[in-house]
Amino acid sequence: MHITRFTLNGKEVHTHAHPLTRLIDVLREEFGMTGVKEGCGEGECGACSVLKDNMIVNSCIMALGMVDGCSIETPEGIAATARGRAIGDAYAEAGAVQCGFCMTGMAVATEALLRHTARPDEAEIRTAISGNLCRCTGYALIVEGVKRAAAARAQGAATEAPRAAAVPGAETAARRETAAKGTDS
Ligand code: FES
Ligand code: FES
Repeated sequence: MHITRFTLNGKEVHTHAHPLTRLIDVLREEFGMTGVKEGCGEGECGACSVLKDNMIVNSCIMALGMVDGCSIETPEGIAATARGRAIGDAYAEAGAVQCGFCMTGMAVATEALLRHTARPDEAEIRTAISGNLCRCTGYALIVEGVKRAAAARAQGAATEAPRAAAVPGAETAARRETAAKGTDS
């Protein structure tokens, strides 16, 4: 029987599910990650977004076997970090949430963007969330929320940097760890 092993929100996990099972089904039904939403089921809406090795993917069109040995992060894993919570706070401050169905996927897209682009401009934000559909908001307030999240993260990084540098070797180690993981959350 085939075993698929991967890292889920920082923990080593394995499953006996068939490698062709959709990733979304394994995440929701076997691991209880119900923040991964199913909208279209066809790779169009982004509600099922997760991070696979720091890249955003649609888990409804990804076979389980494709994540063997990979790192998967769900909305739950992102929301458990201070950085993830700050994204939620920024959305709330911007008034970006209406029905909320798209929001976990939006948060994954926002996290993916901010890991790679610290201070994105509006065009970069709109591109980053272009794979995530929202039927309620018209996107302007979500864009504002992402801008606020980026500003908060940049401010946090600025205030955290002196602490890391104060410990000999810490800055280099932190940078190496960030490069290895693609995140310091
Ligand atoms: S449910 Fe996966 S893209 Fe819509
Ligand atoms: S807030 Fe309702 S779909 Fe986006």
